[in-house]
Amino acid sequence: MSFPLPDGRVAVVPSVLSADFTRLGAELARVRKHSDWVQLDVMDGRFVPNISFGPHVGAAVARASGLPVDAHLMVERPGGLVEAFARSGCGLITVHYESRGALAAIRAVKKLGLKAGLAVKPRTPLAGPLRLLPLLDLFLVMTVEPGFGGQKFIEAMLPRIKAVRAAINGSGRPVWLQVDGGVNAETAPRAVRAGADSLVAGSALFSAANLVKFTRALRGSRRGR
Ligand code: DX5
Repeated sequence: MSFPLPDGRVAVVPSVLSADFTRLGAELARVRKHSDWVQLDVMDGRFVPNISFGPHVGAAVARASGLPVDAHLMVERPGGLVEAFARSGCGLITVHYESRGALAAIRAVKKLGLKAGLAVKPRTPLAGPLRLLPLLDLFLVMTVEPGFGGQKFIEAMLPRIKAVRAAINGSGRPVWLQVDGGVNAETAPRAVRAGADSLVAGSALFSAANLVKFTRALRGSRRGR
C-alpha cells in the first residue's frame, strides 16, 4: 500500500504494541477510520530490553487494518529484517541510527522501493543522523527511551523536534517528522508546535474513552496554535 506524503496535516499513527492482542483484529477495525497509518514496534530483546513481534504480525496488521504500515525496527541488525518486513506488506521501514548497519539497511529499504525512516534515541546527537536526511522519507524523534509503551513524554525532546523541523524545512524534501513515546492529548500540541507532523500513540490511544475526541485532539494540535 502506497504511503502518504506530508501535506501540512498531522498524521495519527496507532502503535500496535499497546493494542489488546487477544482481539487484535477488532482493535484495528476500531482505530482504522481515525488513523492515517499504523506502526509496528519491532523489538529484538538486544537493541532494547523487550521482545515484541515479527513480520507475520506485520502481515496480519496490514490485512486487518487496511491501512499503510510502518515498521519501527528497534533491533540490533535491521538489515537482516528489511526484506521480511517488506514482504509482510510494510510500506515504510524505520531503522535506528544507533543500530548496526543502519545506512546499509536504509539503502536496502530504498532499493525495494519502500519509504525509509530513521529513528534516534533521546541521547543521540542529531548531527550524524541529519546528514542522512537526503535519503529519508521520515525522521523519528523518540520522546522516550525505546522499548516499552506507557512511558512519560520527555519534554527535553522539544528542542530536538524543533531542530529536526528546521533541517527538514531547509532540505525542501517531503520528510515526515514523527514523534513516538508518551504522546497524548496534553503532549501532542507541544510536539506539533515544535514541528512534528506524525504522532505515534499507543497506550493513550488504545485506552482513550472517546477515540474520536482523542484523535481529533491530536489532529487539532496544529503547528502555530
Ligand atoms: C517505545 C515504543 C512506544 C510506543 C508508543 O519503544 O515505540 O513509544 O510505540 O507507546 P506510548 O504511546 O504508550 O508511549
